[in-house]
Amino acid sequence: MKNDIERILLSKEEIDAKVAELGRQISRDYADKNLLLVGVLKGSVVFMSDLLRQITVPAAIDFMSVSSYGAGTQSSGVVKIIKDLDIPLENYDLLIVEDILDSGLTLHYIMEMMQSRNPRSIRLCTLLNKPERRRAPVTVDYEGFQIPDEFVVGYGLDYAEKYRNLPYIGILKPEIYSK
Ligand code: PRP
Ligand code: MN
Ligand code: MG
Repeated sequence: MKNDIERILLSKEEIDAKVAELGRQISRDYADKNLLLVGVLKGSVVFMSDLLRQITVPAAIDFMSVSSYGAGTQSSGVVKIIKDLDIPLENYDLLIVEDILDSGLTLHYIMEMMQSRNPRSIRLCTLLNKPERRRAPVTVDYEGFQIPDEFVVGYGLDYAEKYRNLPYIGILKPEIYSK
Protein backbone atom coordinates (compact mmCIF):
# COMPACT_ATOMS: atom_id res chain seq x y z
CA MET A 1 0.00 0.00 0.00
CA LYS A 2 2.82 2.41 0.96
CA ASN A 3 4.63 1.60 -2.29
CA ASP A 4 1.73 3.09 -4.25
CA ILE A 5 2.33 6.53 -2.71
CA GLU A 6 4.56 8.96 -4.63
CA ARG A 7 5.04 11.29 -1.68
CA ILE A 8 3.40 12.36 1.55
CA LEU A 9 1.52 15.64 1.12
CA LEU A 10 0.33 16.04 4.71
CA SER A 11 1.83 14.12 7.61
CA LYS A 12 -0.14 12.73 10.53
CA GLU A 13 1.34 15.46 12.72
CA GLU A 14 0.31 18.26 10.35
CA ILE A 15 -3.20 16.84 10.10
CA ASP A 16 -3.54 16.40 13.88
CA ALA A 17 -2.48 20.00 14.54
CA LYS A 18 -4.95 21.34 11.99
CA VAL A 19 -7.82 19.20 13.28
CA ALA A 20 -7.15 20.45 16.83
CA GLU A 21 -7.21 24.04 15.58
CA LEU A 22 -10.49 23.49 13.70
CA GLY A 23 -11.96 21.86 16.82
CA ARG A 24 -11.06 24.90 18.93
CA GLN A 25 -12.57 27.28 16.39
CA ILE A 26 -15.79 25.27 16.10
CA SER A 27 -16.09 24.94 19.89
CA ARG A 28 -15.84 28.71 20.20
CA ASP A 29 -18.35 29.42 17.41
CA TYR A 30 -20.93 26.87 18.55
CA ALA A 31 -20.87 27.52 22.32
CA ASP A 32 -24.42 28.91 22.33
CA LYS A 33 -25.76 26.82 19.47
CA ASN A 34 -27.15 23.34 18.98
CA LEU A 35 -24.47 21.66 16.92
CA LEU A 36 -25.15 18.70 14.66
CA LEU A 37 -22.15 17.39 12.76
CA VAL A 38 -23.15 15.70 9.52
CA GLY A 39 -20.52 13.44 8.04
CA VAL A 40 -20.62 12.57 4.37
CA LEU A 41 -19.76 8.88 4.03
CA LYS A 42 -17.43 7.35 3.48
CA GLY A 43 -14.49 9.69 2.97
CA SER A 44 -15.20 11.88 6.00
CA VAL A 45 -15.24 9.16 8.68
CA VAL A 46 -11.61 9.49 9.77
CA PHE A 47 -11.68 13.30 9.85
CA MET A 48 -15.10 13.25 11.54
CA SER A 49 -14.01 10.95 14.35
CA ASP A 50 -10.86 12.99 15.05
CA LEU A 51 -12.62 16.36 14.77
CA LEU A 52 -15.45 15.25 17.03
CA ARG A 53 -13.01 14.57 19.86
CA GLN A 54 -11.50 18.05 19.52
CA ILE A 55 -14.89 19.71 20.04
CA THR A 56 -15.61 20.67 23.63
CA VAL A 57 -19.26 21.79 23.32
CA PRO A 58 -22.25 19.42 23.02
CA ALA A 59 -22.34 17.91 19.53
CA ALA A 60 -24.79 15.50 17.95
CA ILE A 61 -23.67 13.47 14.97
CA ASP A 62 -25.35 11.93 11.95
CA PHE A 63 -24.19 10.57 8.62
CA MET A 64 -25.39 10.52 5.07
CA SER A 65 -24.04 8.55 2.20
CA VAL A 66 -23.80 9.86 -1.33
CA SER A 67 -21.55 8.87 -4.15
CA SER A 68 -20.38 10.70 -7.23
CA TYR A 69 -17.01 9.16 -8.03
CA GLY A 70 -17.56 5.42 -8.20
CA ALA A 71 -14.26 3.72 -8.95
CA GLY A 72 -12.87 6.48 -11.19
CA THR A 73 -10.79 9.53 -10.39
CA GLN A 74 -13.23 12.07 -11.87
CA SER A 75 -16.58 13.18 -10.49
CA SER A 76 -19.41 11.99 -12.71
CA GLY A 77 -21.51 14.98 -11.63
CA VAL A 78 -24.33 12.62 -10.75
CA VAL A 79 -24.90 12.59 -6.99
CA LYS A 80 -26.65 9.49 -5.71
CA ILE A 81 -28.17 9.39 -2.20
CA ILE A 82 -27.45 6.02 -0.68
CA LYS A 83 -28.33 6.79 2.95
CA ASP A 84 -30.20 9.83 4.20
CA LEU A 85 -29.95 11.44 7.67
CA ASP A 86 -31.87 9.91 10.60
CA ILE A 87 -32.41 13.16 12.52
CA PRO A 88 -34.88 15.96 11.62
CA LEU A 89 -32.89 19.19 11.23
CA GLU A 90 -35.26 21.97 12.43
CA ASN A 91 -33.63 22.55 15.82
CA TYR A 92 -30.04 22.11 14.80
CA ASP A 93 -27.13 24.21 13.70
CA LEU A 94 -25.75 22.00 10.99
CA LEU A 95 -22.08 21.59 10.24
CA ILE A 96 -21.42 19.42 7.20
CA VAL A 97 -18.10 17.60 7.51
CA GLU A 98 -16.26 16.55 4.37
CA ASP A 99 -12.82 15.16 3.65
CA ILE A 100 -12.36 16.98 0.35
CA LEU A 101 -14.01 19.64 -1.76
CA ASP A 102 -13.09 19.02 -5.37
CA SER A 103 -15.51 19.95 -8.19
CA GLY A 104 -18.02 20.96 -5.50
CA LEU A 105 -20.77 19.00 -7.23
CA THR A 106 -21.35 16.71 -4.23
CA LEU A 107 -21.37 19.49 -1.64
CA HIS A 108 -23.41 21.89 -3.75
CA TYR A 109 -26.11 19.26 -4.05
CA ILE A 110 -26.00 18.33 -0.36
CA MET A 111 -26.07 21.96 0.84
CA GLU A 112 -29.14 22.73 -1.27
CA MET A 113 -30.91 19.62 -0.01
CA MET A 114 -30.10 20.40 3.64
CA GLN A 115 -31.15 24.04 3.24
CA SER A 116 -34.63 22.90 2.16
CA ARG A 117 -35.06 21.09 5.51
CA ASN A 118 -34.81 24.38 7.41
CA PRO A 119 -32.06 23.88 9.96
CA ARG A 120 -31.28 26.88 12.23
CA SER A 121 -28.06 27.38 10.34
CA ILE A 122 -25.83 25.49 7.95
CA ARG A 123 -22.07 25.64 7.51
CA LEU A 124 -19.39 23.56 5.86
CA CYS A 125 -16.14 22.19 7.24
CA THR A 126 -13.79 20.50 4.79
CA LEU A 127 -10.35 19.16 5.59
CA LEU A 128 -9.07 19.57 2.04
CA ASN A 129 -9.98 22.05 -0.66
CA LYS A 130 -8.90 21.96 -4.31
CA PRO A 131 -10.11 25.41 -5.47
CA GLU A 132 -8.75 24.99 -9.03
CA ARG A 133 -11.19 22.19 -9.70
CA ARG A 134 -14.41 23.95 -8.69
CA ARG A 135 -17.37 23.47 -11.05
CA ALA A 136 -20.24 24.33 -8.69
CA PRO A 137 -20.32 27.22 -6.18
CA VAL A 138 -19.77 26.18 -2.55
CA THR A 139 -19.00 28.43 0.42
CA VAL A 140 -16.42 26.99 2.82
CA ASP A 141 -16.68 28.08 6.47
CA TYR A 142 -13.91 25.94 7.98
CA GLU A 143 -11.03 24.68 5.88
CA GLY A 144 -8.05 22.54 6.79
CA PHE A 145 -5.73 22.81 3.79
CA GLN A 146 -5.85 24.10 0.22
CA ILE A 147 -4.10 21.54 -1.94
CA PRO A 148 -2.93 21.36 -5.56
CA ASP A 149 -4.73 19.33 -8.20
CA GLU A 150 -3.13 15.96 -7.43
CA PHE A 151 -4.90 12.68 -6.74
CA VAL A 152 -4.64 12.27 -2.98
CA VAL A 153 -5.49 9.30 -0.78
CA GLY A 154 -5.33 8.37 2.90
CA TYR A 155 -6.94 9.65 6.11
CA GLY A 156 -10.33 8.52 4.77
CA LEU A 157 -9.75 9.30 1.10
CA ASP A 158 -9.76 6.36 -1.28
CA TYR A 159 -8.93 5.28 -4.75
CA ALA A 160 -11.28 2.39 -5.67
CA GLU A 161 -11.97 1.85 -1.91
CA LYS A 162 -8.28 1.44 -1.08
CA TYR A 163 -5.90 3.56 1.05
CA ARG A 164 -8.53 5.01 3.42
CA ASN A 165 -6.64 3.60 6.41
CA LEU A 166 -3.33 5.38 5.73
CA PRO A 167 -2.68 7.74 8.69
CA TYR A 168 -1.37 10.52 6.38
CA ILE A 169 -2.49 12.10 3.10
CA GLY A 170 -0.34 11.07 0.17
CA ILE A 171 -0.18 11.61 -3.57
CA LEU A 172 -0.95 8.43 -5.46
CA LYS A 173 1.51 7.31 -8.13
CA PRO A 174 -0.14 8.06 -11.52
CA GLU A 175 0.61 4.54 -12.76
CA ILE A 176 -1.81 3.19 -10.16
CA TYR A 177 -4.86 4.94 -11.60
CA SER A 178 -3.81 5.04 -15.26
CA LYS A 179 -3.43 1.29 -15.68
C1 PRP B 1 -15.32 12.07 -2.75
C2 PRP B 1 -14.97 12.92 -1.56
C3 PRP B 1 -16.06 13.95 -1.52
C4 PRP B 1 -16.37 14.16 -2.99
C5 PRP B 1 -15.72 15.41 -3.49
O1 PRP B 1 -16.32 11.14 -2.35
O2 PRP B 1 -14.98 12.15 -0.36
O3 PRP B 1 -17.20 13.48 -0.86
O4 PRP B 1 -15.84 13.00 -3.68
O5 PRP B 1 -15.87 15.54 -4.88
P1 PRP B 1 -16.63 16.72 -5.61
O6 PRP B 1 -16.31 18.01 -4.89
O7 PRP B 1 -16.03 16.69 -6.98
O8 PRP B 1 -18.07 16.43 -5.62
P2 PRP B 1 -16.68 9.82 -3.20
O9 PRP B 1 -17.80 10.12 -4.11
O10 PRP B 1 -15.41 9.30 -3.79
O11 PRP B 1 -17.22 8.81 -2.12
P3 PRP B 1 -16.45 8.30 -0.81
O12 PRP B 1 -16.46 9.42 0.16
O13 PRP B 1 -17.25 7.14 -0.33
O14 PRP B 1 -15.06 7.91 -1.22
MN1 MN C 1 -16.92 11.45 -0.12
MG1 MG D 1 -14.11 8.16 -3.02
